Amino acid sequence: MKNWKKVLALVSVLLVAFSSAAFAAPPKTWVVGFSQIGSESEWRTADTISVQNAFNDDSSFILIYSDAQQKQENQIKALRSFIARKVDCILFTALVETGYGPVLQEAKDAGIPVVMIDRDVAEADRHLRLTIMGSDFVKEGEKAGNWLASYLKKKGLDDGKKQINIVELQGTTGSAPAIDRKVGFANILKDHPNWKITRSQTGNFTSSEGKAVMEAFLKADKNIQVLYAHNDQMALGAIQAIKEAGLKPGKDIIIIGVDGVKGAFEAIVAGEMNCTVECSPLLGPQAVQAISDLRDGLKLPARIYTIEGLFDETNALAALPTRQY
Ligand code: AHR
Repeated sequence: MKNWKKVLALVSVLLVAFSSAAFAAPPKTWVVGFSQIGSESEWRTADTISVQNAFNDDSSFILIYSDAQQKQENQIKALRSFIARKVDCILFTALVETGYGPVLQEAKDAGIPVVMIDRDVAEADRHLRLTIMGSDFVKEGEKAGNWLASYLKKKGLDDGKKQINIVELQGTTGSAPAIDRKVGFANILKDHPNWKITRSQTGNFTSSEGKAVMEAFLKADKNIQVLYAHNDQMALGAIQAIKEAGLKPGKDIIIIGVDGVKGAFEAIVAGEMNCTVECSPLLGPQAVQAISDLRDGLKLPARIYTIEGLFDETNALAALPTRQY
């Protein structure tokens, strides 16, 4: 009799477990509107593909993709159309930091959460979005500066007195990576009174503008020891300009970029570039995870960072076959 009771109890536990597993509601399908800034670099293309693939691989999401073609007004229009369509969540990369306050307020009033990916908005508007996932751009600038200090020391190129002339190719004016990578590099520059940024101009994160600006720098002044480019794409354009000016990139001018795109690895291996600070565009899986958590009612952390490295002559060759972008 006792055994029968035990068997019955076990059967009923199994039945409950089986029926709740069999009838557990699948996650509600969420429509996510993704406002991307454009396709100015290899990095950006890899980022877009990563996000699209990650959402397309998860059948509980429908992704609406919008390419702003580097125009802020296109992004604002896209955000307004997402709000009108009553999407469940907005995934947003801000072309520049400012100018989105009113539209973000409209999303908030409509009860639509906004998750930033890669580029954030300015401090004053951050209360209107939930979180930001991506790289720490200030840290990237600091890594570039620290790498330069140890490279100059290793090669015996800095006696602390002779002036080291550095030219800077900035990213898109007003964008988070351009602002923060400048700040990060300047944080390290402070400790090196003989380092001077002699020229600094935007190359808009593109290879063609990076080349044109570097040509102008070299026409004005050939006394340049270092190029710090806010991304690899501009550094690769500048390498062309340096070659055309009859100089050896990577030797006559030390070249530092940011991103870690394949082209930069190949240039480092060829001895034409010296360092790339990694900034990963492969943010899609993280975005899906964060928005799934949000749908499940979890609280997202205020900032979701990616883990990134730095590559130069010591490790670029070994890492090249494993690069995904
Ligand atoms: O926002 C990330 C930056 O934007 C990348 O460094 C650059 O390549 C891209 O255009």
